[in-house]
Amino acid sequence: MSAAVVCGIGTCLPERVVSNDDLAARLDTSDAWIRSRTGIARRRIVEPGTSTGDLAVAAGQAALDSAGHGADFVLLATTTPDRPCPATAPEVAHRLGLGEVPAMDVSAVCSGFVYAVTVARSLVASGTCARPLVIGAEVYTSIIDPLDRDTAVIFGDGAGAVVLREGGAAESGALRAVDLGSDGSGGELITVVAGGSRRPRADVELPRSQRYFRMQGRTVYRHAVHRMTASSRLALERAGWSPTSVRAFVGHQANQRILDAVGDRLGIGAPHRFGNIAEVGNTAAASIPLALADTAARDLVRPGERSLLTAFGGGLTWGSIALSW
Ligand code: ACO
Repeated sequence: MSAAVVCGIGTCLPERVVSNDDLAARLDTSDAWIRSRTGIARRRIVEPGTSTGDLAVAAGQAALDSAGHGADFVLLATTTPDRPCPATAPEVAHRLGLGEVPAMDVSAVCSGFVYAVTVARSLVASGTCARPLVIGAEVYTSIIDPLDRDTAVIFGDGAGAVVLREGGAAESGALRAVDLGSDGSGGELITVVAGGSRRPRADVELPRSQRYFRMQGRTVYRHAVHRMTASSRLALERAGWSPTSVRAFVGHQANQRILDAVGDRLGIGAPHRFGNIAEVGNTAAASIPLALADTAARDLVRPGERSLLTAFGGGLTWGSIALSW
């Protein structure tokens, strides 16, 4: 049976580094609190004027260079598009010189990249396209309240991308099985209240709590552990893999304690849990491809070994992919 195979990967991180101490200089927080509660030591932040599309173009170009060929479809997973209308993906495709290929944004917050890869896999399987470029890119700091210590310490900016092609299930990089899910009853737990049709930005003088991203961290934490564990089990079951056979667990870099709790529940030991949360924080839809690229760059897994990607985010949404390394 044919499968979609990852054949290129690329990233883009802004140069500016913001340490926990930098944040503690203007917020009631500390390096010790942030490290111990989240595992984050620093994050990358864009300079004013740099957009999600800018990061997406750079990561997309790097992925195309790594694949050694162009793409015939562009999917951009993002929560922070360049503007509400139109989608950012067509301009990214244009700037990448990909001509008139289909291009669209995918909105599933931190699960966006896993959703977009799953859609791309189906597009390949149906023959709709042959080489989709899937990008996860965010300027998350554009929606974060710089005065809100609950969220300002967690998020960073960045982008990661992969190119898929048709290939065999036994090939290195093959997407072997997926699981996706959502629960809209939890939509208020992770939200930017204003700016959409329900509460248009132009309507009224809005309070900060409605203009910026807000998250009910403690409740979200519990959902994240539960959903990523259950979704991972489903994806692995569909692949016919046991959790203990997974050599690389690459979860959404939301919080190291969440990832450790999921790893513990699945029985995937600490030596097989990979990520870069300490260096980049939570980059939402860019988190999984950035962590994947970091794992590849550090040569931590051998070709053919089993890996598991899992994500959870606003919506609520979640998703997992069983991937042959
Ligand atoms: N610095 C110092 N103290 C803080 C900070 C801070 N930055 N933030 C909160 N605190 C305080 C709180 O006020 C609270 O004080 P209290 O006990 O006096 O009331 C105390 O620290 C504990 O607060 P909690 O919110 O319970 O802290 P917790 O250990 O849960 O960590 C965090 C908070 C990091 C947000 C965690 O809940 C978390 O990671 N949640 C899930 C995040 C996630 O997975 N999100 C989904 C994906 S993201 C997306 O979709 C966009």
